[in-house]
Amino acid sequence: MSGRKHQVTYEPSGTTAHVPTGTTLFNAAHWAGIPIESTCGGRGTCGKCKVQVLQGHAERTLADYRHVSEGLDEGWRLSCQCEVAEDMVVDVPRAMSVPKAATMGVGRFVLLEPNAVKYVLAISPPTLEDARSRLRRVTDALVDEGLEVSHASSVLPLLAEAIDDEVESAITATVVGDRLIDVEPGDTSDRLFGVSIDVGTTTVVATLMDLRAGAAAAVESTINRQAPFGADVLTRVSHTQMHGPEGLDALQAAIVATIDGLLGSVCATAGIARHEVLEVVAAGNATMLHLLLGVDPESIGRSPFTATFLEAQDLRAADAGVAIHPEGRLVLFPSVGAYVGADIVADMLATGIARDHERRLLVDVGTNGEIVVGNEDRVVTTAAPAGPAFEGGQILHGMRATEGAIEGVSLDVAAKDGGSGVRLQVIGGDVEPRGLCGSGLIDAVAQLRLAGLLSDGGMMMSPDDAVAAEHPFAGRLRVDDEGVRAFALTDDIVLTQRDIRELQQAKGAIATGIEAAMRERGFTAADLDEVLLAGSFGTYIDPLGARVLGLVPPVAVGKIRAVGNTASEGAKMALLSFRERGVAFELPAFVDYLELSGVEDFNDRFIANVSFPPLETVRPGAVEGDDDRDENRDEERTTGGLTT
Ligand code: FES
Repeated sequence: MSGRKHQVTYEPSGTTAHVPTGTTLFNAAHWAGIPIESTCGGRGTCGKCKVQVLQGHAERTLADYRHVSEGLDEGWRLSCQCEVAEDMVVDVPRAMSVPKAATMGVGRFVLLEPNAVKYVLAISPPTLEDARSRLRRVTDALVDEGLEVSHASSVLPLLAEAIDDEVESAITATVVGDRLIDVEPGDTSDRLFGVSIDVGTTTVVATLMDLRAGAAAAVESTINRQAPFGADVLTRVSHTQMHGPEGLDALQAAIVATIDGLLGSVCATAGIARHEVLEVVAAGNATMLHLLLGVDPESIGRSPFTATFLEAQDLRAADAGVAIHPEGRLVLFPSVGAYVGADIVADMLATGIARDHERRLLVDVGTNGEIVVGNEDRVVTTAAPAGPAFEGGQILHGMRATEGAIEGVSLDVAAKDGGSGVRLQVIGGDVEPRGLCGSGLIDAVAQLRLAGLLSDGGMMMSPDDAVAAEHPFAGRLRVDDEGVRAFALTDDIVLTQRDIRELQQAKGAIATGIEAAMRERGFTAADLDEVLLAGSFGTYIDPLGARVLGLVPPVAVGKIRAVGNTASEGAKMALLSFRERGVAFELPAFVDYLELSGVEDFNDRFIANVSFPPLETVRPGAVEGDDDRDENRDEERTTGGLTT
């Protein structure tokens, strides 16, 4: 559990931020939406971020003595060096005016201040009075820009080439963080690129960002080449356990090759050379990030489930085998815990869940359901092992969300014969359905439930009872040789009683995780302003279906929102803005992690959550705030009339 948050009040606006111990006044201001002036990226070298501390303790740092010699006694400090340790009141005399920004993530306003910057410098020729080295003349020019840099030795030959000692030389100096990594003749400042990567267990997504424009230049996704080693995190971990260092090498090589392939395609699409990519920012679960760096993840797979590293990493990309600019950086988001990874931290950054006043629940549904609940005051997170049902595993006709997968199901009230009343939405459009993916499974079960074909406990109506009740879909019900009931979606594809049990177990785990996190945070369903469904799978889940099954709490359908791949969005934000990166790196300290196995009555609650919620509490129109559209949808999509 993290410690108490401190309130920082920024005058003259009176805006407040609640931040954990150790957050700088500079970053806390950004959390609260006040951009304090900076040209050094918060490194304490430009001296532009001065604020006056009116209340609360503010240590004096060496950088303060250098840049704020006058005014220390009156409380003036460099906000980027001053860490919050108690409640404070601070005067910000001059916030940034009209910053260049882009809207990213879930409506976030991101200031375009990447960690990679190009400076166009005019370097004067030496004289007998000024015989500074070329390197010194360049680093001094950068000091004039507010930057104190170290340098890569590879820039030395470039300096010799780019700087003419006879005339004034126009050069472009490339600085990543506080390191000079390249020097080119002329002005190349219009070419500034980075790549964000969402390293998913199943799918990896790369986005090439034009860092000057704040826009994507190319996006590409592909299957993680580790897939042949196992479908989920645990099978990959056990591969390293069974095959030792060779197994680990193979998994690392597979993910590096995946990323390399994506980098090649996004660069080709945008027409840029690899060496023009200056940074790669990656988010992913803790296991994926361990494997990317060639770190054995075995301790993640056994109790007490610890990681070798959870902290953010910043390394030379070439050291991890990632081929971009030879001195380019690879930056990994931090994780909260072994099972609440950097992808969730990126989700939190992109949604603003820890920075906004609104009370929100964020759920990333997958084999491991990740749950975040809270607002600017406090955030609780947990992970619930849901198993493979949502990815089509353990389901008789289950499959991944690829061409031919049924992704949506509706039972049409108008077609009373039931024969034509089942409408299927199939990935790929006009193709033969081949099976059911996770969103189709949720839809199908929710529709059966709304049609009165499933009891609260999940038992499917028998064909005989359906005939006796003159249920319009009676003709779709079957019983196989083993006595297992099933509902025929097509002649070949059925949804069995066993499939429904699998889904109930999976949703029961996630619902129990949500319930425990909500209780820990002190929220009820009525307190929630929004429920966000994240991840590529979340995009396709029908909000009403999720509520009918009890996968999410009973809130108005309009409050349930699919937010897409927010992990990718968060990584992009951190690429475009050093301020957002600072927030991301501090987020784990802001979050309280709840270990579900430590929840006292977990088993009882899980068993209760395996059942479906009473239909009258979740059907369209049942929750205050449901609008007419939701009720009409009920009439369109289900037979209605019959309830259990
Ligand atoms: S000194 Fe540059 S941001 Fe603080």
